[in-house]
Amino acid sequence: MELALKVNGVKYIRSVDSGITLLDFLREEIDLTGTKKGCDLGECGCCTVHLDGKPVLSCLMLAVEAEGHEITTIEGIATGNQYHPVQTSLVEEGAIQCGFCTPAMVMNGVYLLSHNKKPSKADIKECISGTICRCTGYTKIEKAIEKAAQQMVSKA
Ligand code: FES
Ligand code: FES
Repeated sequence: MELALKVNGVKYIRSVDSGITLLDFLREEIDLTGTKKGCDLGECGCCTVHLDGKPVLSCLMLAVEAEGHEITTIEGIATGNQYHPVQTSLVEEGAIQCGFCTPAMVMNGVYLLSHNKKPSKADIKECISGTICRCTGYTKIEKAIEKAAQQMVSKA
């Protein structure tokens, strides 16, 4: 079937198998490999992207279900050369080791701060609770999102 998806503001048209997942469409059809394929079963959270601004697990969604929606991946989070504060803070706080979970952590954090300017520690824990990090533990990631929130409030 022919499928047209809008990803990071760009429309992509591809001929695909009707059963292709959104994750495989992103990685295999349009070469956006920032979104990671971990379990492919809806358990690790590493495949998180935004659908109309909200996080979804792209391995659990058929690409065809995303037609007509705005999809944002990690490649669409920075503005030109300007990283999002969540991205910068993750680097500054040493919250990245292998980096496999990092795109999903960014997608989670960006979503949280898009609708909650002053998240509590519990809010932050909750927002990343669906994504597994095998390296850092979660303390540094939580601290990075907290720092990004403070920076965004002070610049507003
Ligand atoms: S790859 Fe989608 S949840 Fe693990
Ligand atoms: S930094 Fe390696 S899985 Fe999170």
